[in-house]
Amino acid sequence: MKIRRAVIPVAGKGTRFLPATKEVPKEMIPIINLPMIHYVVEEAILSGIEQVVFITSSGKNAIEDYFDRKFELEDFLIKNGKLKELELVQQIGKMVEVTSIRQKEQLGLGHAVLCAKDIVGNEPFAVILGDEIVRGPNPVTKQLIDVSTKNNNANVIGVMEIDPQETYKYGIVKGNFTDAQKKTMRMTTMVEKPKPADAPSNLATPGRYVFRPEIFDALKVIPKGVGGEYQLTDAINLLAKEGEVYAHIFEGARFDTGNIEGYLNATIEFALMNKDSEEMMRRLIKEKVQKYNIR
Ligand code: UTP
Repeated sequence: MKIRRAVIPVAGKGTRFLPATKEVPKEMIPIINLPMIHYVVEEAILSGIEQVVFITSSGKNAIEDYFDRKFELEDFLIKNGKLKELELVQQIGKMVEVTSIRQKEQLGLGHAVLCAKDIVGNEPFAVILGDEIVRGPNPVTKQLIDVSTKNNNANVIGVMEIDPQETYKYGIVKGNFTDAQKKTMRMTTMVEKPKPADAPSNLATPGRYVFRPEIFDALKVIPKGVGGEYQLTDAINLLAKEGEVYAHIFEGARFDTGNIEGYLNATIEFALMNKDSEEMMRRLIKEKVQKYNIR
C-alpha cells in the first residue's frame, strides 16, 4: 500500500538549544540558509510522501508558516526584481501539503505520534524526527518504505551502527537477520537508552520509522516509560512481540542536529558539500587551523 503521509513530531521544548529555542523552534534553526526542517521535509518528498503532518506545540507556528506562501514577501521581491529569491520562496510554499496538530502537553514521543491518529486513519504512515537529518543518494524513508513493501507492508524502523559506548543515547534493537547481506532483521526487542553493559546490540534508532496503523492501538495502552514519558519504543516492543517489526540498517550519513555538536558537524559538512559554500568553508577552516594552531 502506498505510504502517503509522514508524521513529523516537532513539539519538543528543545532545551539543548536554549536560549535560542525560547522564541525560535529548534527545527527552524538554519544550517547554512535552510532551516533544519527543510532538509527533513525534502527527504519526505523524495520518499514519495504527499502530506506532512506536523505535531506541534505553542510557539511553533513558524514551522507551518515556512511551508506556506508569503504574499507580502513575494510582492516585495517582484517589485525589487529579486526573481531568483522569488522562485526559491515560491517553491517552498508549494513543496508539499502540510497539516498540523497540537500536542497540548509534551508527554513524550509516543504521545506525540498518537496525536496523529485521527488524521492518519487506517493507513500505513512514516514517522520522521524533525531534528535528525540523514543524507545520502537514496532517501532513508524511501529505503524503509521499500523494506516494508517487500515484507507485506510490515512495520520497519531505521537503524544504524553506533559506537557501543554510546548506547545510552538511543533506542537499541535486538533481532534476527532475514537476509544474506545482514541489513534487515526481524526485531524481537528494543531497549530505550540502555547502559553499554545492558545493550542488546549496537544498532540504534535515530528517528525514522514506517508504521502500520496498529501502532496507535499499542500507543494507547502503554504506560509512561523512561523519563516519565510515553515512549514510542514501548509501543514498538508490543508490536515486536507479535513478530510484526523489522529493523533495517539504512544507508546514509546521519546528523543529530538536536544538539550543539551534531549541529556544528552538520553545518561544516553541508557547507563543504554545497558548491556555493564549499570554497568559503575550506578557506575559513584553513584560517582557523592556523589562527588557533589546531593539530
Ligand atoms: P527530544 O528528546 O530531542 O526532545 O525529542 P526535544 O524537546 O526536542 O529537545 P531537548 O532534548 O529538550 O533538547 C525527540 C523528538 O520528539 C519530539 C521533539 O520535537 C523531537 O523532534 N517530541 C518529543 C515531541 O514532539 N513531543 C514530545 O512530547 C517529546
